[in-house]
Amino acid sequence: MKVLVIGGAGYIGSHVVKSLLNAGHKVTVFDNLSSGREENLFSNAGFFKGDILDPIGLAKAFQADDFEAVIHLAAFKAAGESMLKPEKYSVNNITGTINILNTMCEYDVKRIVFSSSAAVFGEPVRLPIDEDHPKNPENYYGFTKLEIERFLEWYDKLKGIKFAALRYFNAAGYDIDGEISGLEQSPANLLPVIMEAAVGMREKLQIFGNDYDTPDGTGVRDYVHVTDLAAGHVLALEYITEKNESLTVNLGSESGLSVMELLEEARKISGKEIPAQIVGRRPGDPAKLVASSALAKEKLGWTARYSDCETLIRTSWNVYKDRLNNLFE
Ligand code: WQD
Repeated sequence: MKVLVIGGAGYIGSHVVKSLLNAGHKVTVFDNLSSGREENLFSNAGFFKGDILDPIGLAKAFQADDFEAVIHLAAFKAAGESMLKPEKYSVNNITGTINILNTMCEYDVKRIVFSSSAAVFGEPVRLPIDEDHPKNPENYYGFTKLEIERFLEWYDKLKGIKFAALRYFNAAGYDIDGEISGLEQSPANLLPVIMEAAVGMREKLQIFGNDYDTPDGTGVRDYVHVTDLAAGHVLALEYITEKNESLTVNLGSESGLSVMELLEEARKISGKEIPAQIVGRRPGDPAKLVASSALAKEKLGWTARYSDCETLIRTSWNVYKDRLNNLFE
């Protein structure tokens, strides 16, 4: 299929592009390179530099080929920042997505795979979290994702656009073949922060609380390898195409890892001390989040293959260790 990947130069987007190319799809990337990186682009994929807030630029990209599907990963994703700057998240995440949907209507593109998030659920009332779990986002970022899921339902009903909304849990790790190595800029998520502390890009890891009701007191999350996530996009695209029906699914590993477990494994694999300090809890952090991905298994035949602790850390370390010698260049 001819696929336009919006946000395809980003951390998850670049892995999705690789999976699509491997599956034989023809890929064009649309990205403003605000957090995406040029080094994440593949030479056998097309590229348009443009912004989803610029409908004229979007239209130009849509005119370039008869795209049969869009994969949309272009969004701001820092939950904490979204509470301080909701305007930024309204404009980019919501208005940007509406621009994409309207351009799809104009150019008669009938399929979209959308990056949703486990943040739509908020504080869990039961574990594991399945798709029917109540949705009460704790942060504005999660609210934007939930709103977009609702827009997608309306555009399906009114315009026949079939969608797959993929609710990612904690995306982590790097390409299993080591082909993608663009680092995220100013990351706030746990694993890149651990890696930055390991190579000296930051002084230390701050552990946000060790008094949670979890086996070692630190927060437990469902980390899903980005290569697994990428495979989920290809399967979801095939599903909505073959069945001509929309789909909303969780993508998670169904297993929980604590901050301490990841830190210890990172120390072991890197051989670095990785300075860490226990600090207070981060507001809005639940003790434990774990997905049920039974629906993704049933509908897509998807399961996480690379989301074990060792593989998550090893694939990340393979990318970050190269920065050790280049820190002061
Ligand atoms: C993981 C654990 C922290 C940083 C976020 C988004 C969510 C979704 C996934 C995309 C927690 C602890 C972290 C640090 C720490 N994103 N931690 N020190 O908050 O579970 O989820 O990413 O859709 O919407 O909110 O991920 O990586 O920030 O935290 O101790 O410096 O690591 O307290 O237990 P989170 P995270």
